[in-house]
Amino acid sequence: MTIENLEKGPDAHAARVYDYFIGGENGLAADRAAGAWIGMQAPDLLTTMQSNRAFLSRAVRWLARQGVDQFIDIGSGFPVSPNTHEIALGESPAGSVVYCDVDPEVGRRTRELIAGRQGADFVLGDIQNPDELLARPAVQALIRSGRPVACVLGAVLHFVPESADPERITATLREALPPGSYFVVSHIAGDIPWGDRNNEETLKRAFEDMHPRSREQVARFFGDFELVEPGVVLASQWHPTEEAAGSRSASALYGGVARRN
Ligand SMILES: C[S@@+](CC[C@H](N)C(=O)[O-])C[C@H]1O[C@@H](n2cnc3c(N)ncnc32)[C@H](O)[C@@H]1O
Repeated sequence: MTIENLEKGPDAHAARVYDYFIGGENGLAADRAAGAWIGMQAPDLLTTMQSNRAFLSRAVRWLARQGVDQFIDIGSGFPVSPNTHEIALGESPAGSVVYCDVDPEVGRRTRELIAGRQGADFVLGDIQNPDELLARPAVQALIRSGRPVACVLGAVLHFVPESADPERITATLREALPPGSYFVVSHIAGDIPWGDRNNEETLKRAFEDMHPRSREQVARFFGDFELVEPGVVLASQWHPTEEAAGSRSASALYGGVARRN
């Protein structure tokens, strides 16, 4: 989610503040200070980000245990362990993970992390140009294998405005995937109220560049893929661990996984 609009000081960087929220160590002191301030103003923003990351980890692990060993992670963000390749290649060492993000700094850090790591790659790209992204050789190699690929869209589609037609973008991505492939989406909810303990003005500014959507809208991003049980639900409720199941109120975020038959 965006924190671009919050008063976070001139030296703080939105992606690094997010990184701080989810436990990363990429940030500077300014990022940590901004993170702490936002956490006080809107504590549920923080827990929602953590719940997002936990959902992605559970979804990737679940897929890897279904035998999926090829992943395209779009809007991958700053690497924060456990990253998709750590989970996926941990289960299937011969698998492949291609990360994609529009932010060159994310690219630099990701490339640094995966340097020399067989089966992990990064491509700089914009989800708003899905054809260009799909044409990249690293992505093509996975798709052309004809074997299932999981396309992971973690907390990225809510940065895509209606004017860019996110349904068209997701349809283009889905249609490129071989049979047996999966689509994973997490997305900030637009139809779940935030608790009173969050400062309204802070939330308003945090969401200024974001496009929260209803459960119905998020479900449309899966098209005719078959939703894995329990469907599109609060991310904390998707195959929850005991800990995640208890955090319902703190996660205004949907998550779901669906399969191409
Ligand atoms: C909130 S972070 C999510 C990171 C990770 N997927 C997660 O869920 O923890 C969103 C990421 O999406 C990236 N992003 C935003 N707009 C994008 C676009 N049009 N194309 C690709 N990446 C984008 C940002 O640079 C950022 O790294």
